[in-house]
Amino acid sequence: MDKFVIRGGNPLSGVIRVSGAKNSALPCMAAALLTEDEVTLENIPKVRDIETERRLLQSMGAEVALREGEAQDQTTISCRRLSDPVARYEIVKTMRASSLVLGPLIARMGVARVAMPGGCAIGGRPIDLHIKALEKMGAAIAQEHGYLEARVGTGTGNGAGRLHGAHLVFDRITVTGTEDLLMAAVLAEGETLMENCAREPEVVDLAALLTAMGAKIEGAGTATMRVEGVTSLHGARYRINPDRIEAGTFLIAGAITGGDLTVADCNPAHLGAVIAKLREAGVQVDALGEDAVRVHAAGRLVAADISTEEYPGFPTDMQAQYMALATQAEGVSLVRENIFENRFMHVQELVRMGANIKVEGSMATVRGPTRLSAAAVMCSDLRASASLVLGALVAEGESIIDRVYHMDRGYEHFEEKLLGVGAQIQRMGNVFAPREAETVAG
Ligand code: EPZ
Repeated sequence: MDKFVIRGGNPLSGVIRVSGAKNSALPCMAAALLTEDEVTLENIPKVRDIETERRLLQSMGAEVALREGEAQDQTTISCRRLSDPVARYEIVKTMRASSLVLGPLIARMGVARVAMPGGCAIGGRPIDLHIKALEKMGAAIAQEHGYLEARVGTGTGNGAGRLHGAHLVFDRITVTGTEDLLMAAVLAEGETLMENCAREPEVVDLAALLTAMGAKIEGAGTATMRVEGVTSLHGARYRINPDRIEAGTFLIAGAITGGDLTVADCNPAHLGAVIAKLREAGVQVDALGEDAVRVHAAGRLVAADISTEEYPGFPTDMQAQYMALATQAEGVSLVRENIFENRFMHVQELVRMGANIKVEGSMATVRGPTRLSAAAVMCSDLRASASLVLGALVAEGESIIDRVYHMDRGYEHFEEKLLGVGAQIQRMGNVFAPREAETVAG
């Protein structure tokens, strides 16, 4: 298993560029299932989860090609012939976001067989809200042998029925639940009103692609969406948004190392809560136009509390990274995790570096500043891994971070980007590593 070797103490400076958003790319790739035509996506990051989604679509009969160009890589997906509308467990267990094919498969084919994703390091990750809403739109969904067997009846039992519009109110805000049902609604018969929707920029990205494909959607980015179903969708070309979580991770890398870092190719408008919190913690943050943010630590960092919320609140995907910064801030920072039940896996590893953090239920209390010292630590999930890297960038000495395959799921060219702004980081492959343990993704 690959490791990172990081020697801390270098302030990061210069320009670091952000890739396309993994969590936009995953639903947008799934949206190609909704049409026989070719869908071309730009700014898709080359990360492990995208590779998994490519394998998943191909396993169903789709053609997925990556065309590398000078200016722009393009991913083209053609789902003209879907020979096998099955999302197999061997693939789903490595990336739970595979549940995003459920809605589009039922909408396009009238049938779907999708492995239940199961939980992951950060929580149980149920998809009961997806199922409940799809059933309200006319799908019959049974759970057998670890699979969801979904069918829309036509009376003839051949499964080629069509979903009908419904009034959906999500019991709690779910990002992929909103995306899954949006993809189901665009081909349903009649109108679907969706309330208590997720407002994440990734939902807006998906809605923009679907609209380019001929869907009729109002209210994307708000809590209420209204969809007028159409009988078919056509192909489209679409460029997905930059990854706001990668951007936020780099902002904290600049702040924690006391550097002067410009994060480019990002969208500052998607980073409101993160930028506000960094400023509260004493970090100098300046938006540079519409696609860059500059961060430089003006002076000492001061403690500031966070409470993770759905967008536009402080993102749960930035909680672990912020906690690393809080170890360097003067005072007591309270970190409350409201979205997932087990998202403090990074705490014990940061404590091994010398952090002073106490966890009680969904609250972590961080006392700082503490001098971090390099240690051998282990990644547990995608964002916890980023937190350990941030700690190692400021720790005295050389840290070894193991199981970086977690990072490879969602950060493109991560070590190269950090090297380019002055970090001392190196990837060490371990040729004798056992086959990488497959892990369920976030
Ligand atoms: C998406 O996961 C993201 N993944 C996650 O990013 C992100 O942390 C999460 O949204 C929250 O922002 C992708 O977009 C691929 P949810 P998702 O459904 O959609 C509960 C990363 O690091 N819930 O919004 O799976 C659920 O257990 C990953 O990139 C139900 O109870 O999250 C959680 O407590 C990690 N029943 C809460 O809702 C359901 O049917 C929010 O989950 C669905 C969700």
